[in-house]
Amino acid sequence: MRIRQAHIDDGPRLWALRLEMLADAPLAYLDTLDRAVARGLREYHHRVEGWVTEPDRALFVAQLADRPDAALVGHLGVVDERGYAGLVMAYVSPDARGQGVLKGLVDAAAEWSKRIGRSDLLLEVMERNHRAIRAYQKLGFSVTGNRHPHPYLAPFMELEMMRPA
Ligand SMILES: CC(C)(COP(=O)(O)OP(=O)(O)OC[C@H]1O[C@@H](n2cnc3c(N)ncnc32)[C@H](O)[C@@H]1OP(=O)(O)O)[C@@H](O)C(=O)NCCC(=O)NCCS
Repeated sequence: MRIRQAHIDDGPRLWALRLEMLADAPLAYLDTLDRAVARGLREYHHRVEGWVTEPDRALFVAQLADRPDAALVGHLGVVDERGYAGLVMAYVSPDARGQGVLKGLVDAAAEWSKRIGRSDLLLEVMERNHRAIRAYQKLGFSVTGNRHPHPYLAPFMELEMMRPA
């Protein structure tokens, strides 16, 4: 498994991973499969461009093998939120779960965060997403006590979790 920063050529594989992710975990993200498909590949390509060119964000991917055409089986975004680094888009494909992929992605995001001077990692996770909460706890995250209603799926609540980078 290779963890690396995404590059622009990853566009089609990232798009495939996004559609898989929204189908697999429809309640875990601030997007839905229908909306993503309606916006289409071109709009998604602009997003990927932002991820790979903007200095305030980075997207890390997990690649199955060290070959240029190898499948992507996970990703994690990290955004400089001025005061902390926010983790978004945490996803690992079902077949790659339970193998430390999330740890590799979080380690890479933590290194990036330290390099830009952010010492805390923050994320939000759906309160009922027990697998993700457990996965984050294993990596040293703990709940801060802050909870927010999900922006478009109220009454579901999101928990904030934090750890040092
Ligand atoms: C969340 C996610 C990235 C975690 O990666 P992962 O490789 O599955 O994580 P791990 O296997 O290392 O850890 C999951 C832990 O939860 C446990 N678990 C699994 N199902 C569970 C459940 N229903 N309730 C509680 N714990 C559960 C696992 O046993 C494991 O703990 P253990 O190692 O102590 O046995 C991945 O599952 C995923 O992409 N899920 C779908 C999308 C998602 O929910 N993303 C998070 C958005 S915030």
